[in-house]
Amino acid sequence: MYEEDVNMFFQSYGDLNIHKTLLLDQARNDAYWRAIFENKDHLKDKIVMDVGAGTGILSIFCAQAGAKKVYAVEASPKLIPILKAVVRDNGVEDIVERICLAVQPQKATIYVALCDMPQLTSQWTRVHDVNLEAATNVYRSEAGCFPHIEQLNYESLISLPKQFCTFDMYKVSLEDVHNNVMRTVFVTNKSGIVEGICIWWDVEFQNGVVLSTSPFSHNTHWKQTIILLPKPINVTTGIPIGAEIAINKANDRVYTMSLTMLDAEEEEHDIPCTCYFSKCQVANAFFVQSSVQIKEEPPSPTSE
Ligand SMILES: C[S@@+](CC[C@H](N)C(=O)[O-])C[C@H]1O[C@@H](n2cnc3c(N)ncnc32)[C@H](O)[C@@H]1O
Ligand SMILES: [Zn+2]
Repeated sequence: MYEEDVNMFFQSYGDLNIHKTLLLDQARNDAYWRAIFENKDHLKDKIVMDVGAGTGILSIFCAQAGAKKVYAVEASPKLIPILKAVVRDNGVEDIVERICLAVQPQKATIYVALCDMPQLTSQWTRVHDVNLEAATNVYRSEAGCFPHIEQLNYESLISLPKQFCTFDMYKVSLEDVHNNVMRTVFVTNKSGIVEGICIWWDVEFQNGVVLSTSPFSHNTHWKQTIILLPKPINVTTGIPIGAEIAINKANDRVYTMSLTMLDAEEEEHDIPCTCYFSKCQVANAFFVQSSVQIKEEPPSPTSE
């Protein structure tokens, strides 16, 4: 069974549409190009291993940027001859050898925020004067069973983003990525319909180049991942929404994502918190007052 999965995995990369999607993703290509070319001094005369070279673009970037030798490792039988031809066509066959410095980011972070997605149900719950709730309710319960890969505009976000988890790519262990859970209270920062939780990631390379898949950045082929709430929530600014988000490893290639709504009254809120609950408003007033006092405290007298 395992061997079948592995074969299927590499066969899936034989579909050139995946490589077309990658090569058409300008934000991705530019981030890698800059991470490599703005790191030329570091790369000069080094031996590089490009694991999962595909069409070879990153190996060729490294060769063009001055690497002494690049080992391009690729396991898909369909891609191996293509990789060889692309390397030859770019005149770097003396440098790039097909087999394997991995261009690896230093840090990876996953973010989450509340979002709208009105086209999903809200926009067709009523068409002219026809109430279609019975249809949209079923649609929503079916659509809630799987993640939606969609490109959202930053205007679709209804709360500030929160950091879900972050990994140092040089220290991270397999266990670190198996199970990650966040129990939190989001606070809406505008009026709208909260339809789901939007999830995205960014990675930072050693020279500070950041590849971000956030709705605030250029679109990438990774888009964002949205998990739907069981029911949309109409909100104004300052509404607290409690949620537990979990990302757990199901098997070698699959993660399960789950979203559980929590009672915001029972959960701990951030300090300071911008929600309308009086406990948060009182805490905020206290917080603002004490930080003003700290700022206004006169400098301690020096020796007389
Ligand atoms: C997402 S593509 C990236 C291709 C290329 N590096 C690029 O940036 O356009 C991943 C490639 O890695 C290959 N791959 C995945 N796991 C691998 C492994 N364990 N050994 C060798 N190749 C692998 C796949 O066949 C696929 O061609
Ligand atoms: Zn609060």
